[in-house]
Amino acid sequence: MSRIEEGYLNMALYAIGDLHLHYQSILKAPGQLHERVWKNHEEKFRKNCEKLISADDTLVLVGDHSWGKNLTECELDLQYIRDLPGRKILTRGNHDMFWDAKKTAHLNELFQPDLTFLQDSYETYQDYALVGTKGFTFEGPFYIDRRGRITGWNEEDEAHAKKLVERELQRLRKSFELAKADGCRKFIMFLHYPPTSILEERSGFTDLAEEYGAEQVIYAHCHGERRFNDSIHGAYRGRTYHLVSGDYRRWKPLKILE
Ligand SMILES: [Fe+2]
Ligand SMILES: [Fe+2]
Repeated sequence: MSRIEEGYLNMALYAIGDLHLHYQSILKAPGQLHERVWKNHEEKFRKNCEKLISADDTLVLVGDHSWGKNLTECELDLQYIRDLPGRKILTRGNHDMFWDAKKTAHLNELFQPDLTFLQDSYETYQDYALVGTKGFTFEGPFYIDRRGRITGWNEEDEAHAKKLVERELQRLRKSFELAKADGCRKFIMFLHYPPTSILEERSGFTDLAEEYGAEQVIYAHCHGERRFNDSIHGAYRGRTYHLVSGDYRRWKPLKILE
């Protein structure tokens, strides 16, 4: 069946992450105040979305939506996201304190059909399953020598990180399995954290992407020039990896599929 017959014409899937909205909350990231890219970023992003995204399109927001500590403090931030064009799917970031993973059903009750909160579930786009979870990556602290080379790291923190990675891998596998059980064979995988730490070339997350044949892996979380190359970019072992943190993308959502 052709794309026209299937009604897929003029439809696109976009992604971006790390809006870090703070309409009601005190801003906690100091860099966000000073780096030029963050100046009026809400306005820049809204305008870009209005230019690019139409009502039939889908926008996946991969975490760190709001600085608000609870739902009350996020009300205006979530309203801002609601008012963006297209269908909106949200995944969790490390700063999304308003979103307890175990209470995702409640969030969906409150916000559907405007917003879909994806956790231990999947959504579909055309014949693709959109699967995902927050992920986790060991981020140090690392010990650095005078030349800036890594000479070691905090092993206690690394052991703790491994536990969090394990839990996130289980959640991700569940997302893939639910989609697979419903007959999905094509996958796009979304993480908030990068799929690999700066010490790794592969990880449980890249392994799962390969095991299930995810065509693309989308991640965010890395802010500022220094962090943009922390993980994988582009074609790698049969899949394509994209960093979509808002400041990296200069607030322009990335078109993933059309
Ligand atoms: Fe972030
Ligand atoms: Fe983050």
